[in-house]
Amino acid sequence: MVLATRLAILGSLLQRTNRVNIGAMKKNRVIFDGGDFLIRDFIRDDAESLALSGNDREVWLCLRDRFPSPYTRRDALDWIDLVNNSNPKINFAIDVEGRVAGGIGLMLQTDVARVSAEIGYWLGKEYWGKGIMTKAVSGMSEWAFCNLPITRLYALVFDFNKSSARVLEKCGYQLEGRLRKAAIKDGKVVDELLYAKIRDELSTEAKLQS
Ligand SMILES: CC(C)(COP(=O)(O)OP(=O)(O)OC[C@H]1O[C@@H](n2cnc3c(N)ncnc32)[C@H](O)[C@@H]1OP(=O)(O)O)[C@@H](O)C(=O)NCCC(=O)NCCS
Repeated sequence: MVLATRLAILGSLLQRTNRVNIGAMKKNRVIFDGGDFLIRDFIRDDAESLALSGNDREVWLCLRDRFPSPYTRRDALDWIDLVNNSNPKINFAIDVEGRVAGGIGLMLQTDVARVSAEIGYWLGKEYWGKGIMTKAVSGMSEWAFCNLPITRLYALVFDFNKSSARVLEKCGYQLEGRLRKAAIKDGKVVDELLYAKIRDELSTEAKLQS
């Protein structure tokens, strides 16, 4: 199919998805079932397990400074209220056996970058190394491209965070560049790696034709 036709199809999908009121969708959705975990909406009863998983300096060291450290029950409740009052709801709990093991979410960009969203994620340390986040980022990316009017997902990773970079690579994100000395974390200036995944035009066409 010629490029112009592909772009026309993508344009019509973006117009359609722009009209969807995602906030009006079902409450407490499960948006992805990973088998041994779920990606679902947060509820207020999650506060305790969220604070327990999040209250870890090793987790904080890999994230932006706005992630609380220490992470209290009050911080957890504030976060749950914030995400549940946002529209669209695009931040979710990673649930293992009914407890919050971590979080995954999107930051929609604005103005001319409104077709882009940043993906962010974390897990409590006891859940690391079990393949959870590879499945979660993959499921969340698919959900985002199917439900939001975006063409691009990207992630910024501190260059020392090998496991996060590996997760993104396994999920089909491409390394686009190294942002030299772009951030300061725990008093040290660090490079950030920019990874991105673009909406697959072929699968978009297939969905539109089915
Ligand atoms: C990064 C994080 C999300 C990874 O989650 P996870 O569920 O443990 O990841 P997975 O088990 O799915 O995959 C991890 C991969 O990294 C690899 N890995 C782990 N440590 C590594 C290292 N030091 N060097 C290279 N690869 C490494 C693992 O071997 C695995 O790859 P493989 O399947 O090819 O063997 C988790 O460690 C975390 O929450 N860290 C703190 C917060 C954070 O870093 N968030 C991301 C900010 S960009």
